[in-house]
Amino acid sequence: MCGIIGYIGSRPATPVLIGGLKRLEYRGYDSAGIALAERTGLSTFRSVGKVSRLVDKLKAELSEKRHEEATTGIAHTRWATHGAPTEANAHPHFDKSRKICIVHNGIIENYRSIRERLQAKGHKFDSDTDTEALSRLIGESYNGDIRKAVIQALRQVEGAYGIAVLCADEPNKMIVARMGSPLVVGMGDDECLVASDAAALVAHTQRVIYLDDGDVAVITPHSVDIRNLDDEPIERNVAELGLDVSAVEKGGYEHYMLKEIFEQPESVRNALRGRIDLAEGNAVLAGLSASPAELAEIGRIILVGCGTSLHAGMVGEFAFEDVAGISTEVQQAAEFRYRNPIVDRHDMVIAISQSGETADTLAAIRKAKEKGTKVFGLVNVVGSAIARETGRGVFIHAGPEISVASTKAFTGQVSVLLLMALKLGRGRRLSQEHGMELAAEINRLPELIEFVLKQNDAIAKVAERMSKSEHAFFLGRGPMHPVALEGALKLKEISYVHAEGYHAAEMKHGPIALLTPGTPVIVLANHSPVLEKVWGNAEECKARGARIIAVVTEGHAHTDLTDDTIILPKCSPLVATIPAAVALQLLSYHVARLRGCSIDQPRNLAKSVTVE
Ligand code: M6R
Repeated sequence: MCGIIGYIGSRPATPVLIGGLKRLEYRGYDSAGIALAERTGLSTFRSVGKVSRLVDKLKAELSEKRHEEATTGIAHTRWATHGAPTEANAHPHFDKSRKICIVHNGIIENYRSIRERLQAKGHKFDSDTDTEALSRLIGESYNGDIRKAVIQALRQVEGAYGIAVLCADEPNKMIVARMGSPLVVGMGDDECLVASDAAALVAHTQRVIYLDDGDVAVITPHSVDIRNLDDEPIERNVAELGLDVSAVEKGGYEHYMLKEIFEQPESVRNALRGRIDLAEGNAVLAGLSASPAELAEIGRIILVGCGTSLHAGMVGEFAFEDVAGISTEVQQAAEFRYRNPIVDRHDMVIAISQSGETADTLAAIRKAKEKGTKVFGLVNVVGSAIARETGRGVFIHAGPEISVASTKAFTGQVSVLLLMALKLGRGRRLSQEHGMELAAEINRLPELIEFVLKQNDAIAKVAERMSKSEHAFFLGRGPMHPVALEGALKLKEISYVHAEGYHAAEMKHGPIALLTPGTPVIVLANHSPVLEKVWGNAEECKARGARIIAVVTEGHAHTDLTDDTIILPKCSPLVATIPAAVALQLLSYHVARLRGCSIDQPRNLAKSVTVE
């Protein structure tokens, strides 16, 4: 969603800010803006659409001299929530005096009452945003000390924010603050940066401070002074970013999505590294350490998440029940947070999130904690809100996922869920022998993924034959049912083809009415105890004229029935979910490419969904 980058130092700020905005583009946005601290005061430049339009505007309006002289600035990409995506609503926003301006991620929930209060005092708002209410509130509180004014204003707001503030009367500092919306401060030589996402800092520094909720920091080129909302000093550790620029670049691929699909042998290897004990048939997961008594006590596992992470959780449900014999439920995080869930201290909630910032998942964690349940995180982004809120759990170590469509996060999540199931299983009913078999299979995942990636050209041909269809169905049973849901989600989000994921047995209960001659039906027909049933479901679709694209295990093709075939390597049904998901990622990717879609930044979507 929205993105923030700020710079204070000795270099011209504009190229750093624009470079940062470009790194944040993947998060999804509809307008962009920048504010520079100049000798004459604060100047802002805003535009609707891509960052490139903002660059054109800066070229036209900012002279070379001004460009060189402005060494402090803040910038923003906005994903509209309050007010349409117009230039007037784009950030930064000024206060009444136009000497203070801010960029803001999050939502100020009580902005209406603030706005009305300020309007009664004569303020005339320039935008429809909640952000302008906050900038004007800061201006109202200003009395010669911008830090104090920010703190005073923030004490009056409800909601979530990550903000960066400039004040014309104090041009040598930048104030930043967070509550429920991430901010990272980067420290370089004679310069400091701030960003809502570490990807925007990676080209400049490895030394970072992750701000926490309630932090307000005064940043100069040489110092970071952190306070709480009571204006008391706070200590925060300086951490190593541990990312290099190649992790956030395309590396020769046409799209980030394709790069990330092809990274999966490596990203899954990273998720598994040091975590498999082949000899014991067990998993080594420090974040899941528990005594045998604690393990025996787990009555139920509840997996919460949204979108792709929810689908990973649904595969996890099969793994926890089959392998560990623990009753498991999966709940959409937004549902969990509002339904007054029945959970207690014997339950174990695992919150799954790539970004670690998804608002509904975060709220679900808080709800589970309120109820006294054990909560673990399964997260990709280190330092993210969910990683901090859970405080324990397992990282998937997939590296930055830039494409909006989640790919390597899904396979990382499922890989770690399989490890969790193995560990919990070995602590309960799973024999060493069966544990060893599963551990050996999980260990082979990188090569199983390679097996599918080698079919990239063949899958592109399959995509060619379905790329003109406006509808598609994905069918699966057992652990392949969530993979079917995930395949449909991938196709619809990047190619805008209407796609439905169904349990294969459900087709005949209604959706089969939608089939017309040639409708692509992608059938996940891997070798499993229910394979014949799946073929039966595929026959029913074929009889209605559907075009059957089967994803089958090597040696189990059914060429009489299928129009196209994608081959999976031999492995158990649970483990097969991962190579199958990779096959569907490639299929969606190629359909979207052939349809000329904006693959990495699909319309209307944001990478991390930090609003309800
Ligand atoms: O960062 P999270 O895993 O919490 O995000 C959850 C969903 O927003 C995300 O998976 C979304 O569905 C993706 N666009 C799927 O490709």
